[in-house]
Amino acid sequence: MTTTGIMGSGSNDVESSILSALSGGTDSIISDTYAYSVESNVDHNSIVGSCKSLATDAYVSLTEISTQFYVLSTEAEDIVSNGSQEIRVLNALLLAGGAGLSNEELENAVGGGGESVGSGVCKIGVGNCLKNRWARKDKASGKLIAIVDSVSGDDVRDQLLRLKSVSSKEDNTKVLDDPTYVALKRRKLIALVTRKSYTVSRGPNYAPTRTRKAADLTREMLESGSWKTTPFKEYNFRTLGESVGGGHLHPLLKVRAEFRKILMEMGFEEMPTDKWVESSFWNFDTLFQPQSHPARDAHDTFFIKEPCRTISIPEEYYDRVKAMHETGGSGSIGYRTVFQREEATKNLLRTHTTAISSRMLYKLANRPGGFKPARYFSIDRVFRNESMDATHLCEFHQVEGLVADYNLSLGDLIGTIETFFRKIGITQLRFKPAFNPYTEPSMEVFGYHPDLKKWTEIGNSGMFRPEMLAPMGLPKDVRVIAWGLSLERPTMIKYRIDNIRNLFGHKVDMGMTRNAPICRFEEKEEEEKA
Ligand code: PHE
Repeated sequence: MTTTGIMGSGSNDVESSILSALSGGTDSIISDTYAYSVESNVDHNSIVGSCKSLATDAYVSLTEISTQFYVLSTEAEDIVSNGSQEIRVLNALLLAGGAGLSNEELENAVGGGGESVGSGVCKIGVGNCLKNRWARKDKASGKLIAIVDSVSGDDVRDQLLRLKSVSSKEDNTKVLDDPTYVALKRRKLIALVTRKSYTVSRGPNYAPTRTRKAADLTREMLESGSWKTTPFKEYNFRTLGESVGGGHLHPLLKVRAEFRKILMEMGFEEMPTDKWVESSFWNFDTLFQPQSHPARDAHDTFFIKEPCRTISIPEEYYDRVKAMHETGGSGSIGYRTVFQREEATKNLLRTHTTAISSRMLYKLANRPGGFKPARYFSIDRVFRNESMDATHLCEFHQVEGLVADYNLSLGDLIGTIETFFRKIGITQLRFKPAFNPYTEPSMEVFGYHPDLKKWTEIGNSGMFRPEMLAPMGLPKDVRVIAWGLSLERPTMIKYRIDNIRNLFGHKVDMGMTRNAPICRFEEKEEEEKA
């Protein structure tokens, strides 16, 4: 294969040919990259690419040239070689003489024109002959008959030929008068196109050959000492970093990280929540939830088959819990039913993180130095045997907080909850009396959702009952206030996900996880009116 010019050469060769084209003197230029590309037989795009690359290192300076010119359509090219449709039709009619030609005869004489010449030579030609009053349609026979003997020439073809004959296309916008261009454009025979090219001159760093700057310092450079003289690329502090290929936090974890930060700022310490399997004792009994409570049914709770029983329970504490259930104490009459060890030792997947809160409070009560006021929180997974729908799954996450201190009141609970929710941007709260076996009073927490413009339930709360705290051994005037909410609900609101299955489970789109923006909650200072 023979190649002319520098066609088929790599970008380095294109670069060096550009640099050598400018080697004549300080004011040598390539006046137009397009002309240069035709001359050197190299694709214009690759010349422009090389010029831009040279310009980034200031080897060359570029000035943009924009050139407009007309190009001929396929139909126009057909006219240039075979004459305009109207002349072809007229010629056929003149040959036929006074009898004229039917449509079919005309088709045979001039041809319908292939797909490439648009809507058909015959149809366009006939239309233009009638419009130009070169022919008429005979009413009786329906045939087309010429009414002129000859015409002076093929105007359309001549105009197109004139455009084509201009040696540098750049000037073809000047050869015809304006109405002619308009007429040709209307017939879609020509179209105006814009081409971008460049004038290339020497840049401040011009040199006849390009020295590539080193991007990295190598061991060899250090060993040979060549790093002292090697030119290095400048740092580009404005470039976007490469996107990281892995390790994206799921939206739930992003919200968890943010909640964790907020709770730590409020002085809460995280509880160890890595216990998904719990005993009924910690999950229910220590919370003074009666052994006959419906939640302790397999319809609501996932029990563990293997191992089905816990092997250790703090025995003294067990006795005090059992006594509280059976006979009461601390002002309570208890449930007055038989407390069964068999029920208490059953293993299950914890149904709430309050099981962990209970373990922590028991520990706090039996701390070596004695009880000390504390604030704890946890954010982790819980399990319930629920029927699943757009907002419910069998496993979800709870955020739970508790404060244990002397003589806390319901006001402290409301205040703490208000502070927490204000930090995640919810300022309007309402509290509704509720029931939990382990808290009294208990309150459901409702928040006003400014987007949805309605009050929605966002959490549950209460003061732990003496029946729960006394058997643990907490001092008599220590009160524990606590609240809990799901992690899923605020995450779905934050990330505008309306089906929980798009957030969690096997249907989750990995792209969603990868692209979910970071989570930030804005603390709201002032109250908004509902
Ligand atoms: N454990 C409760 C639930 O699962 C939440 C809660 C926590 C309520 C602490 C009161 C106090 O909904």
